[in-house]
Amino acid sequence: MSQRPTRVLTGIKPSGTPHIGNYVGAVRPAVMASRAPDTESFYFLADLHSLVNTQDPARVQRSTLEVSAAWLAAGLDPSKVWFYRQSDVPETNELMWLLTCVAGKGILNRAHAYKAAVDKNRADGEDDDAAVTAGLFMYPVLMAADILIFNADRVPVGRDQIQHIEMARDFAQRFNHVYGGDWFTLPEAVIDDHVATLPGLDGRKMSKSYDNTIPLFVPQAQLKKLIFSILTDSRSPGEAKSTEGSALFQLYQAFATADETAGFAQAFADGIGWGDAKQQLFDVVEREIAPMRERYEALIARPGDIEDILRDGGRLLRERYATPLLQQLRDAVGLRDLGAATTVVSDAGVEAKAAPPVFKQYREADGRFYFKLVDGDRVLLQSTAFDAPRDAGQVIARLRRGELALSDAPAAPGEGVDLETVQAALEALVAADAEKAAS
Ligand code: TRP
Repeated sequence: MSQRPTRVLTGIKPSGTPHIGNYVGAVRPAVMASRAPDTESFYFLADLHSLVNTQDPARVQRSTLEVSAAWLAAGLDPSKVWFYRQSDVPETNELMWLLTCVAGKGILNRAHAYKAAVDKNRADGEDDDAAVTAGLFMYPVLMAADILIFNADRVPVGRDQIQHIEMARDFAQRFNHVYGGDWFTLPEAVIDDHVATLPGLDGRKMSKSYDNTIPLFVPQAQLKKLIFSILTDSRSPGEAKSTEGSALFQLYQAFATADETAGFAQAFADGIGWGDAKQQLFDVVEREIAPMRERYEALIARPGDIEDILRDGGRLLRERYATPLLQQLRDAVGLRDLGAATTVVSDAGVEAKAAPPVFKQYREADGRFYFKLVDGDRVLLQSTAFDAPRDAGQVIARLRRGELALSDAPAAPGEGVDLETVQAALEALVAADAEKAAS
């Protein structure tokens, strides 16, 4: 296998203003992981996916901006990782269709989100697919395309996404099988069991749907107000308090060192008043968030800069990976240049001519591009490596037009083949091309 660094890829669905539960559960661990050595990290705003959930254009735009700014403010470094927007890599959509045509519909029928929608419809006595869009149904195929377009090895996700990664593996495997090649790496889900799920203001899981969140970048005064509104029991100062099941305590733990947390637990046992406890929580949260808030505000004030960062990422990724891969995949499935067709059509009664030698272009595990001239099973000519498939294609084209002498070509005869044999085969090919052109 190739020696390339491990590719780690994660999609971020821009849905509303990020809160401290998103920060502790997703942003902070991912930014930390993005600094690991020997990895090539891909972080993208899954804006196409967000269209499944919201059809409010202003909200899509606003969320994309806020979530991008939040990740940058939290320390994601776009000069070290790929940071981009899904919709800026349109090859993803093209790959999605190729995958759609190998994906089993039955597998999609069993996707959790789709099944939940159907179950709800049944319970409500509605038609199975009432108000279910094809977008919801196809969501897993788009997600597979996100992952496979960059041949990611590892995909850090929450537990609810494991099924989607399994589907991506399934589609990748089917494509590899149907089109006979190692086109796609099979991605693996990475689940981090250490990250905390934060409680919200009312003690339930912090979630937009419960309206109990602490937005990540509210002004300081509002942060304080929110923290002071956290639900506690009615024990008065001096009475010992339980850390067990205390939202206040769990929030504190997420922002404090181990020593500070131990001290806080002791203070609970010693009967700290809720007001004092809330002040201490505010202090540790503010300590971590204040510098990020400053960066966030500066970023949000210059949305054009964020736009440039995302666009640059998408553009470079297309050049480096997406466009060359799609070129190969198109060829693999038969979306090919008709002028390069090698089929010999025989007239009735006339014996078919022996198939002429053919040029084959391919990619090696080292990620580089090659071509060879083959006659049946025999390799007549083997090229050196090219950085881009187009470069290999241009050398082939010049050889075929007789513009490039074999001795000058970046290629050598295959094993046990002499130069004259290659020359003769090439001339036959040039003659066949000429004949085809004339007929
Ligand atoms: N579905 C993921 C979520 O809801 C977001 C996502 C889209 C994603 N494409 C992805 C995650 C690719 C990982 C890889 O969180």
